Amino acid sequence: MILGVPKELKNRERRVALTPDVVKSLVASGYNVVVEEGAGEASFYTNDQYKNAGAALGGKAQVYGSDVVLKVNAPQPAEIAQMKKGATLISFMWAATNADLVEACKQAGINAFSMDAIPRISRAQKMDALSSQANLAGYKAVILCADTLGKILPMMTTAAGTIRPSKVVIFGAGVAGLQAIATAKRLGAVVEVSDIRPETKEQVQSLGGKFIEVKGDDSIKIEGGYVKGVSEEFLKRQQELVAKHIKEADIVITTALIPGKKAPLLVTEEMVKSMKNGSVILDMAVEQGGNVTGSELNQTVQKNGVTIIGESNIPSLLPMNASDLYAKNIQTFLLHLTTKDGFKWEMEEEITKGSLIVKS
Ligand code: NAI
Repeated sequence: MILGVPKELKNRERRVALTPDVVKSLVASGYNVVVEEGAGEASFYTNDQYKNAGAALGGKAQVYGSDVVLKVNAPQPAEIAQMKKGATLISFMWAATNADLVEACKQAGINAFSMDAIPRISRAQKMDALSSQANLAGYKAVILCADTLGKILPMMTTAAGTIRPSKVVIFGAGVAGLQAIATAKRLGAVVEVSDIRPETKEQVQSLGGKFIEVKGDDSIKIEGGYVKGVSEEFLKRQQELVAKHIKEADIVITTALIPGKKAPLLVTEEMVKSMKNGSVILDMAVEQGGNVTGSELNQTVQKNGVTIIGESNIPSLLPMNASDLYAKNIQTFLLHLTTKDGFKWEMEEEITKGSLIVKS
């Protein structure tokens, strides 16, 4: 079985689906790997490293003509067009909100597994690319904000006076949010957190964060650990309560998502206006519609002295770690789905069933 690794085409993408270390290990397991020349360049993995790991270097035709094409981002139509009938694609697909892509794969007669659809069960944790990438994004989000803020995060006592610690407010204590809390705490900030899953309170407190508690109601629907829906009324109550925390914040990081739906609006225009001159907001949900009024996709904007960062692909800003962890996720997933000779197609097995989006 030949595995092909193309250079990612998406604008601002610096990750690559396989790293030289993972190539080496897959080759040792009997797989053949073709890597597009320069595919790893933006993550600082060189052609020579791939060659030394046992991969062949090839052009686009060779890579997309492989039995399995391994990617980070959902493929563009031109990429699907180059794949051969019966081949298999593995990448993030976001199939629930990407019906055209699913249809294009069907029309092309290819199989597609989606990394974002791997069930979040214990035995799939090593394949969980949503978590591996969100974890890194949570860290980098704090670093980006800290770098933009014209203040330091920790308390500092100096001969010239005492600097008070910065206050960081984080929305959403999922994988990215929890890492953001830990990072902001390590940097010495005071951290306050809002989430609507009740079990997050203890997790936030164990990381040293202060939980902003909104009284729950029956409208909050949680399935498999995910928020599936929440009423407008609850969101309004949450907004009222968090407004005073936001007013005092130096940094606000929002990570709140509802899978398959538009992200909830949590920071209104009025709240942005209430913030201190010089404070910073990072909207990590910007690509899913945004948690913050005024955030713009991949732009950093100023509103009444508040900087709003709308970076959509934060893992790509840490391409070495992000590619490394993603490649390991892919490797474990591949070894689960295949032998070196082909796919097992265990259609009733939970991970296969959950992640297989198109079967030709
Ligand atoms: P996510 O990216 O879908 O959402 C981020 C966070 O936003 C969640 O904590 C959610 O509760 C929160 N949120 C939604 N609406 C909100 C609102 N109005 N205000 C404030 N917060 C709001 O979540 P993520 O990080 O992908 O994790 C989702 C779940 O999956 C968690 O329960 C996590 O523990 C679970 N999980 C399980 C794994 C496993 O068992 N293998 C691995 C990773 C995560």
